[in-house]
Amino acid sequence: MRTSRVLLCFTVVVSACISECKYHPNWSSIDSRPLPAWYDEAKVGVFMHWGVFSVPSFGETAWLWAFWQRDHVKPYVDYMTKNYRPGFTYADFAPEFKAEFFNPDEWAEILEASGAKYFVITTKHHEGFTLWPSKVSFNWNAMQVGPKRDLIGELATAIRKKTSLHFGLYHSLFAWFDPLYVTDKSNNFKTQLYPPAKAWPELYELVNNYKPEILWSDGDAGPDWYWNSTQFLAWLYNESPVKDYVVTNDRWGNNGIMCHHGGYYTCADRYNPGKLQNHKWENAMTLDRVAWGYRRTVKLSDLMAMEELIYQIASTVSCGGNILVNVGPTAWGTIVPIFEQKLRQMGEWLKVNGEAIYSTKPWSHQNDTVTKHVWYTSKKTGNGTAVYAIVLKWPTTNILTLGAPIPTSGTVVTMLGYAGSFGFKGIGQQGITIRIPVIPFYEMPCQWGWVFKLEGLKNAASKVGF
Ligand SMILES: *[C@@H]1O[C@H](CO)[C@@H](O)[C@H](O)[C@H]1NC(C)=O
Ligand SMILES: *[C@@H]1O[C@H](CO)[C@@H](O)[C@H](O)[C@H]1NC(C)=O
Ligand SMILES: *[C@@H]1O[C@H](CO)[C@@H](O)[C@H](O)[C@H]1NC(C)=O
Ligand SMILES: *[C@@H]1O[C@H](CO)[C@@H](O)[C@H](O)[C@H]1NC(C)=O
Repeated sequence: MRTSRVLLCFTVVVSACISECKYHPNWSSIDSRPLPAWYDEAKVGVFMHWGVFSVPSFGETAWLWAFWQRDHVKPYVDYMTKNYRPGFTYADFAPEFKAEFFNPDEWAEILEASGAKYFVITTKHHEGFTLWPSKVSFNWNAMQVGPKRDLIGELATAIRKKTSLHFGLYHSLFAWFDPLYVTDKSNNFKTQLYPPAKAWPELYELVNNYKPEILWSDGDAGPDWYWNSTQFLAWLYNESPVKDYVVTNDRWGNNGIMCHHGGYYTCADRYNPGKLQNHKWENAMTLDRVAWGYRRTVKLSDLMAMEELIYQIASTVSCGGNILVNVGPTAWGTIVPIFEQKLRQMGEWLKVNGEAIYSTKPWSHQNDTVTKHVWYTSKKTGNGTAVYAIVLKWPTTNILTLGAPIPTSGTVVTMLGYAGSFGFKGIGQQGITIRIPVIPFYEMPCQWGWVFKLEGLKNAASKVGF
């Protein structure tokens, strides 16, 4: 029943497009859609990985099931053997996913304080468990097992009510152990049982019910023609309720789609190429270097220091990317204080320095040519184009030498969050020498990266954005 209804829906979509739809189900047409402007302006997002894997909360968390029962990786097999009764199955974890302390308003407040402009949450990871009451989930979703709540719906409501963040949904196309997927895979994807029964209806439910502003596709373990990705994206862009503003990524088929087709490019986990890219991209990275989900054995040394996070933000935005900063909530529904602290500290930094991040464009140079650990962005202001030098290491003398800018007699050098302008040398030459006054500790605007704003440079022009 359900399958034929979905197929019918696809048929209608495809035939409607012959006459009136803007985007056609092929990559050249899908790729021609301009990226909705809000996404490039937003620059910073927060990512969360949450699911049944948050219960064992062990090792690479979200991957535990596959490492334990598909790949038989020794530490995972040993952990399960030692700590769980014989015959314990992965499904037995689900009732322990209770989210009993989950308060979406509290998460919303932390997200707003983080300075992020968008939020993406896993609605279903490779384990197949859906955090919303999917009509095609049989007892493997958060409404029937575990929390007994529509976690996605509650978050959508809280974030829209309490914050200005854009709301995004992560969705894994495949599920490791779904029997229909396993059958299709063993048939080299010549059969197509799983997409019409699961992947497509899930995507339609997510888009129609929660109207995400980002659809973050993952788990594309199968070719694009198996997932009918271009047909789905044509519907998303032409007819869906989010067609005018939805943004998506590039994980729509494992036959060379990633980093080449779709919306913005993710290319790889923790992608940060260090040079300017000619297509909008995103650095999806983790504060816990080891895992995407919450890990009970996480150590302070596994966590990214603020200096490192600010470097990730500066280098990513400088090279035309957005950054998506991941934290893993607990199975009981909280964000543990060390992650909360880092998110709030990111917000403190952005409060002072956001002018150099949000709505900026890449400059002609990304990092400086002379001084290490300096990354540039640029932005049109009322007074022409400002260039921002994000200095990640405070100069050891009172002199900051930058090789890329060409100052003029009209150049003004200031520091974001600090009153007054700085003297400099080098008018008419390549390079600028900035004299930094002695700044009392309590007048320093921030702790981990300082932004020098250069106005009136001869070579101020930005690179074209996306
Ligand atoms: C994509 O679809 C458009 C519209 O149907 C068509 O004009 C174009 O030739 C197609 N491109 C490819 C590569 O098939
Ligand atoms: C899926 O894609 C194939 C072409 O690869 C097409 O023949 C088929 O009609 C599509 N199915 C749906 C439901 O869109
Ligand atoms: C700037 O970045 C490039 C490319 O990553 C690197 O080769 C170069 O050494 C960097 N320059 C400085 C001064 O650090
Ligand atoms: C614009 O530049 C002029 C001098 O060139 C300066 O007096 C004025 O304060 C600047 N305005 C802003 C908004 O920065």
